[in-house]
Order: sequence, then structure tokens, then C-alpha cells
Amino acid sequence: MSVVLGTRGLTRRFATPAGPLDVLNGVDLEVAAGEVVAISGPSGSGKSTLLHLLAGLDRPTAGEVRWGDVAVHDLAPDAAARARNGRVGLVFQHHHLLADLSAHENVTLPGRVQGRVDAVRGDALLEAVGLAGRRDARPRTLSGGERLRVAVARALYARPAVVLADEPTGSLDRASADAVVDALLAAAAADAAAVVLVTHDALVAARADRRAHLDGGRLWEDAPAAS
Ligand SMILES: Nc1ncnc2c1ncn2[C@@H]1O[C@H](COP(=O)(O)OP(=O)(O)O)[C@@H](O)[C@H]1O
Ligand SMILES: [Mg+2]
Repeated sequence: MSVVLGTRGLTRRFATPAGPLDVLNGVDLEVAAGEVVAISGPSGSGKSTLLHLLAGLDRPTAGEVRWGDVAVHDLAPDAAARARNGRVGLVFQHHHLLADLSAHENVTLPGRVQGRVDAVRGDALLEAVGLAGRRDARPRTLSGGERLRVAVARALYARPAVVLADEPTGSLDRASADAVVDALLAAAAADAAAVVLVTHDALVAARADRRAHLDGGRLWEDAPAAS
């Protein structure tokens, strides 16, 4: 089994005016290539904290995060940002699309930043998320669900081994939520990318290969379904 994302003893303590707050208390997780893992848990249980650590956007108080053989917990923020490209794609609600760029330009933005845009790749991804017909649309003319599907396509542009998504369907109606999850799973499967998806939606979680729950600073995984 090729582990594309792994944690060991992952621990995050925040200093707060009321004293130290232990949010994560030894989280162990291994995600294999192409696997889809859903994570749920009560509000405030540390789901976003965990995803930020998995993304290398925050550093653990103790423990390890690895992208394949890259020790993310040892990287300074700029080195983590460089290492992320081509390894980890993010679908986070605060990672907005750029308003002045078209859907296609937003999807290929990681290429622009690198100085080489693969326009064919951008079109293939828009097709994969069901937005081939909205290639030139500006974000403000798209629905919330369509904007998220553009964000999904952008997250996959650099062919990451893992996509991390933090409650991507949280604010959407059922049909739009399903369309976003369809897009995410189809686009990830086309590239054999693994997906770690935080969701409080049981119907979304049911589509994952594995389901885990964050509570009390620990990650508890459901037993594999009998097949
Ligand atoms: N930077 C921070 N400083 C202090 N406390 C934080 C910080 N980030 C998150 N927390 C706290 O950690 C807990 C978990 O937050 P979060 O990971 O956002 O939970 P979830 O995503 O599961 O709702 C909450 O009590 C939150 O207030
Ligand atoms: Mg959260």
C-alpha cells in the first residue's frame, strides 16, 4: 500500500486566554493512493485544525504529518507551500476564486503562478466537474455550487496525490451538494488522487471508502463494511 498522506501522534494545543486548549491529542491516520476518507465530528472538535495541519498550513505541537516521504511537520511555511504544489490540493471555503478571472483562468491559476499554463488540462477539468459550458464565466455569474466545482477543478490542476476538502458542501442545497461531491470524486478518481473530506452530511460520508469521527482530540474510524 502506498501511503500518500500519514500522521502519527498528531497533537495541536492552542494558547487561549483561558489557558491551553488541547484540540488534537494524538491523531493517527494513513491514507492510501486513491482512497476517499470522510471525517465528521461535532462543531469545535478540531476538524478544520486537523485539515490545516494535513495541508501544512499550520504546524503541530507534537507528532508528524507526511505527504508520501515528505516530513511536512519539519517544513517552514514557504517550504511547505512549495512542497504542496503537485502533492496536495485544497478545497477550503476561504480559498476564494479570483473575481476578475474566468472559470478556466481560475482553474489554471496554479499554472500561471508557475509560469506555464496547460489550457488543455483546464478544459479537461472543467469537463470533469460538469462546467465545460461555463469556461469563460466570471465567478459572480456562477452559483455557489458551481463556484465550488471550479475550486475542485483548481485543486486538481497540478495533479496532487491528495485533495483536502473542508465541509465543501456545508452551505449548499441537496442537489448542489451532490453535484459538488460528484465532481470531486469523479475528478479525483480520474487522477487516482486520494481525498480527505470533512463533512457533517451523512449522505456525503456514505460515499467515502472510509469514515472516521473526530471527538475528544482523537480520530475514531468506523470498522470497514463487510463486502
Ligand atoms: N488559532 C486558534 N487559537 C485558539 N483556538 C483555536 C484556534 N483555532 C481553532 N481553535 C479552537 O479549536 C477548537 C477546534 O476548532 P476547529 O478545528 O475549527 O473545529 P471544527 O472545524 O471541528 O468545528 C475550537 O474550540 C476553536 O475555538
Ligand atoms: Mg471547521
